[in-house]
Amino acid sequence: MRFIEAVDYEDMSQKAARILAAQIIMEPDCVFGLATGDSPLGAYRLLAEWRAAGVLDFSRASAFNLDEYRGLGPDSPQSYRFFMEENLFSKINMLEANRFIPDGLAGDPDAECARYEAAIDGRGGIDIQLLGIGNNGHIGFNEPSDEFKTDTHLTDLTKSTIDANSRFFEQRADVPVQAYTMGIRTIMRARKVLLIVSGERKAEIAERAFFGAVTPQVPASILQLHGDATVVGDAGAFSLIRRHIGRTGN
Ligand code: F6R
Repeated sequence: MRFIEAVDYEDMSQKAARILAAQIIMEPDCVFGLATGDSPLGAYRLLAEWRAAGVLDFSRASAFNLDEYRGLGPDSPQSYRFFMEENLFSKINMLEANRFIPDGLAGDPDAECARYEAAIDGRGGIDIQLLGIGNNGHIGFNEPSDEFKTDTHLTDLTKSTIDANSRFFEQRADVPVQAYTMGIRTIMRARKVLLIVSGERKAEIAERAFFGAVTPQVPASILQLHGDATVVGDAGAFSLIRRHIGRTGN
């Protein structure tokens, strides 16, 4: 794994956005894997600014989001579809037909998961997957478990994740209890992975995930086995892992 320490959230966002920008400059028809949450917001803001300035062209690119709540549709402000429209898609020129997110209102979950995997394959796979990391080590909604779940699937959310996500809902009871998520194999098949992590409160899980045992109890730990994974984090998030990282960043 490659580790890049940033000074703060803004610097982390700059570095991550530049890596994503480099991808689209090098390969205009690339396929992004995208995430929601607080971590990527700064990077999305920069990509939107660079698009507005005419620096980036997304017209040939595609994107697959990691996950979506089951039961929420595009009009629900808490849905990940809504988040992506609001924070990125409405501000860049990626074609609507090229923007993929699992359908939270799908009637047949198994068919929806199979459709999503086939759509990723149909675009030739993901070139660069952007990830955040949950307080419990989840990536996407792959929660700590006894096994790594492989492909896109419907999952029950853990109490820790429901608690963390309740900040976006009026009441805790409104937080969906299930979500669609890419599986670990879906994520590991991405040609590159870029994980961003911010804040002291993530320092401990970052150390467990990237320097502890590879275990489905800490789903992000699987990224230690990815051939091209980069972690960009700010000083708070890197406060415990800094001592493990050599001068080359590896
Ligand atoms: C979001 C996702 C989640 C988040 C993680 C970190 O699409 O899949 O795994 O990346 O929960 O969230 P933040 O960035 O809000 O701390």
